[in-house]
Amino acid sequence: MRALTPAVPAPVPSSEAAAFAADLHAALQGTPRQISPKYFYDAAGSALFDAICELPEYYPTRTEHQILQACGRAMAAHIGTSVELIEFGAGSCVKVQALLDHLGPDLRYCPIDISGEHLAVSTARLARRYPGIEICPVVADYTAALSLPDAGSRRRVGFFPGSTLGNFTPDEALQFLRHAARLLRGGALLIGVDLIKHPDRLHAAYNDRQGITAAFNKNLLQRANQELGSNFEPDQFDHSAFYNAPLQRIEMHLVSRRPQTIELQQQRYTFEQGQTLHTENSYKFTIDGLRHLAAQAGWQAGTVWTDPEELFSLHWLIAP
Ligand code: AVI
Repeated sequence: MRALTPAVPAPVPSSEAAAFAADLHAALQGTPRQISPKYFYDAAGSALFDAICELPEYYPTRTEHQILQACGRAMAAHIGTSVELIEFGAGSCVKVQALLDHLGPDLRYCPIDISGEHLAVSTARLARRYPGIEICPVVADYTAALSLPDAGSRRRVGFFPGSTLGNFTPDEALQFLRHAARLLRGGALLIGVDLIKHPDRLHAAYNDRQGITAAFNKNLLQRANQELGSNFEPDQFDHSAFYNAPLQRIEMHLVSRRPQTIELQQQRYTFEQGQTLHTENSYKFTIDGLRHLAAQAGWQAGTVWTDPEELFSLHWLIAP
């Protein structure tokens, strides 16, 4: 008699999973080992990020919200009337409400997000709260070529809050700003970026006491196990986040606690004790630095709004 081992169903490869697999293999074959932070955001990772935004140590979301609340009216005056307001990576469409509260009904709001499901839920909620506003959701990767609804005689204004620009490489940030300047020609962009500050404050924000940021970082390994059938043991990696002052960025890494071998789609990769997988950079800016970067991408820098401690900033950039 032959014992039959029940077949373990292989994870179903989707194009997204295939891209994740290819990028993870490339990361594990590279020196140093580094992967894009975009892979943090599966359902579990997005929920962990929402929890990060509520943490006492994580000041960016709270501070940006305070600036938007305090200066939303002035920002809306800059935005003006007869506008197509385009939000890049809108997610739950929460931050934009501080602007919508002060904008007239003659407005078309186009939130762009990669997740159609998420966007459908948030725009339905928004439509109930702002029945006079035309809402045109766009399901797309906003860093790629986009087809937006024809603006007609409306001026296009972009909204890119949350310091997401800081998670791009300097090259990607410049490319994104150039791409946005083309898309918003004749209009403007309102962009939120985190500012350089004392390293202790930055360190605390990415090393919270409850370990939520550590769980967010390690979720990348859980996601790889679930979607790609790898066998990472997340407990055998430490979360490491520190401010790299010369490069003006927080770096997040997963550090191997011991020598270990992992398997990903029949390929084996070894980690030495202390060897890391670099999972995220979060660049921090000076006000002048951001204005200079924007100018390089063809923008004319205008008003800057910040909080009394100058932790965070929102910039009005004009696309001539
Ligand atoms: C989404 N992004 C702006 C966050 C940041 O601060 O760079 C992601 C994050 N990573 C760790 N904590 C939060």
